[in-house]
Amino acid sequence: MKEYMFQSPARIHFGRGAVSKSGTEAARFGKSALVVTGKGSSARTGSLDAVLASLKAAGVAATVYAQVESDPSVNTVEAGAKLARENGCDVIVALGGGSPLDAAKGIAMLLTNGGKVTDYEFKSPEKDGTPIIAVPTTAGTGSEITRFTVLTDTDRKVKMLIQGAGLIPKVALLDPELTLSMPAHVTAGTGMDALTHAIEAYISKIATPMTDVHALEAIRLIGENLIKAVHGPENMQAREGMLRGQMHAGLAFGNASVALVHAMSRPLGALFGIPHGQANAMLLPVVMDYNHSAAPERFRDIARALGENVDDLSLRDAARTAVLSVEELLEETGLENRLSAFGVKESDIDRLASDAAVNGSCNFNPRKPDKEEIAALYAAVL
Ligand SMILES: [Fe+2]
Repeated sequence: MKEYMFQSPARIHFGRGAVSKSGTEAARFGKSALVVTGKGSSARTGSLDAVLASLKAAGVAATVYAQVESDPSVNTVEAGAKLARENGCDVIVALGGGSPLDAAKGIAMLLTNGGKVTDYEFKSPEKDGTPIIAVPTTAGTGSEITRFTVLTDTDRKVKMLIQGAGLIPKVALLDPELTLSMPAHVTAGTGMDALTHAIEAYISKIATPMTDVHALEAIRLIGENLIKAVHGPENMQAREGMLRGQMHAGLAFGNASVALVHAMSRPLGALFGIPHGQANAMLLPVVMDYNHSAAPERFRDIARALGENVDDLSLRDAARTAVLSVEELLEETGLENRLSAFGVKESDIDRLASDAAVNGSCNFNPRKPDKEEIAALYAAVL
């Protein structure tokens, strides 16, 4: 057994009402919070009010930055850092889906390390960012507990993956009540993103016994709860299952990385604006089909975690069952399963495949794909 490292986040509160800890947790780190959130939904659903009330009760001042778009841009992050400096903010509360959380990480990084976002495209920030209390309102990205942020350079149409231990939020408040208001397509997209994290971490070349435990538990929970949450938005048990599932997925891929699906979905987001979870969902079955022969035992485990009985099947068929099971799941979510629905044309595949082939996540895939193979995978879901 080779030596390995598992980076765990500092503190996780899980359960209904966890959002009410925002104030006391923020007060451990500072007196003035920048609250980073999206452009509307957290105000509409009342989650922003819950955070602000908790901060007030704990005596922490709040500056609200409710300007984060989906796929947050470098400009949004730099404007947020400027606002934080002007108001002397010494702690950040990040509230919302993956986009506000990723934007908050970028802001936190700039506040302590200085410079521009693009300075960190290929090098990790040296210093820990300003402390972040992360409060997710979707069940998918795992951003509240990972060391990654994905920020978009709109000039170059590139999604940059920036990483460093200093980007991990100090506290994650996982409150399933905040996820109840997610519309079905967001539940489906973010849930499929989390499933992709878990599956890619489990088949990753750098998976370890510690990431395996989290990955399999994530696959089990998501397999059991995703469709229930999509079709029964008020189903609290399913919402809890999904939130816990995506957390385990975050712990897994935060250490074992993601692989080819993510390498291929990033250019779809950068060039066509396809939401991250939706892009992963479309690609996941076809990429699993490409990968399953390279790690059949792992895919058999995935099939079992998804509740399939594969005891009487050959190893090959058991592995293939995992692919079919995810295909079925995708269909039941009601998400799109064709790139053409988003305006992608055959003539776009060359550029997409070039971008995906140089993406670092390819290195962790059980099969090392070349550009032609990646192009064929895009073509299969066109
Ligand atoms: Fe993802």
